[in-house]
Amino acid sequence: MNTEKKRLLTGLQPSGDLHIGNYFGALKPFVDIYQEYDSYLMVADYHALTSLRDPEQLRTNIINVVKDYLAVGVDPQKTVIFRQSANPDHTELGWILNCMVTVPFLMQAHSYKAKVDKGLEPNAGLFTYPMLQAADITLYDIDVVPVGEDQRQHLEYTREAVGKLNRAYGENLLQAPTEMILDSAGIIPGTDGAKMSKSYGNTIPLFGSTQEIEKAVMSIVTDSEGDKPEHVYAIHRLLKTEAELEPLYEEYKGRYGDLKKTLAQDLEELIAPMREKRAAITQEMVSEVLAAGAVQAQETSQHTLKKVRAAIGID
Ligand code: ADP
Ligand code: TRP
Repeated sequence: MNTEKKRLLTGLQPSGDLHIGNYFGALKPFVDIYQEYDSYLMVADYHALTSLRDPEQLRTNIINVVKDYLAVGVDPQKTVIFRQSANPDHTELGWILNCMVTVPFLMQAHSYKAKVDKGLEPNAGLFTYPMLQAADITLYDIDVVPVGEDQRQHLEYTREAVGKLNRAYGENLLQAPTEMILDSAGIIPGTDGAKMSKSYGNTIPLFGSTQEIEKAVMSIVTDSEGDKPEHVYAIHRLLKTEAELEPLYEEYKGRYGDLKKTLAQDLEELIAPMREKRAAITQEMVSEVLAAGAVQAQETSQHTLKKVRAAIGID
């Protein structure tokens, strides 16, 4: 790989079918710029274990997420696509970073609180989730992490853990990353108006059928709203310019059903070609990509881990 280039990494959890929030928040920004970097695209399967305890489902989701990566336009020759669990360096550095931060610090994490509020089990994995994420990033000396707005704090946590480790051992052992968050994406609302999330059952599936997408769009909440139903508009503006949307929203004033139909059509236009591409991707292709990625990932991460092990006295 070209060492002159800066490094980029992002990851998504295979905890369910990817949705348009994942696409606009993380995948599209990745696809737009990954070729300018030495880049890594991870399947965060150990993170998914914090919320999913169905082995068959997890296996299927992992394959599906990789198919999704390829279908949205990621070229596996130009990036390292890999599974977190295929490289044990992640859990090892994750443990080391857990030992650098305190329980009260982790207790402040918004994503932990939000997931527990939504009824997820507060297991210890969910609690220490940010340190596994910090390991995912720092193992590869990553400069930039394209993510959605909801991940901003996880990047702050990563920098904090990096600082603690570096200060404790008096060296620049790990590199602090920067998040790359598209202003235009923000936090994309789900059909119920809360953050769209695989764990909340409020998604518009990225690779759903035309009917599934339409059904999800038609169910977006629009109660007691003015001329511009907020959550419909929040999604629509990801697909069309404000100048295109203004006349449309004027024309469909008060006719939320018809407006939603136009949104479903606009989504269909974006998704149809990707869906077609996805249908041609086989499980064998996925296995090949992941096998190659696992080797490449560990080749890079072992240098970092070796350095850290030596510094902490475990070598
Ligand atoms: P989910 O909450 O659906 O499980 P993940 O936590 O796996 O999604 O997130 C994967 C990526 O997609 C992250 O970069 C995250 O910021 C982004 N993302 C997830 N949901 C949204 C959303 N509603 N709006 C914007 N970005 C999102
Ligand atoms: N926590 C991220 C999310 O829920 C997924 C993730 C795991 C990730 N490891 C990462 C994202 C490393 C970026 C970099 O969206």
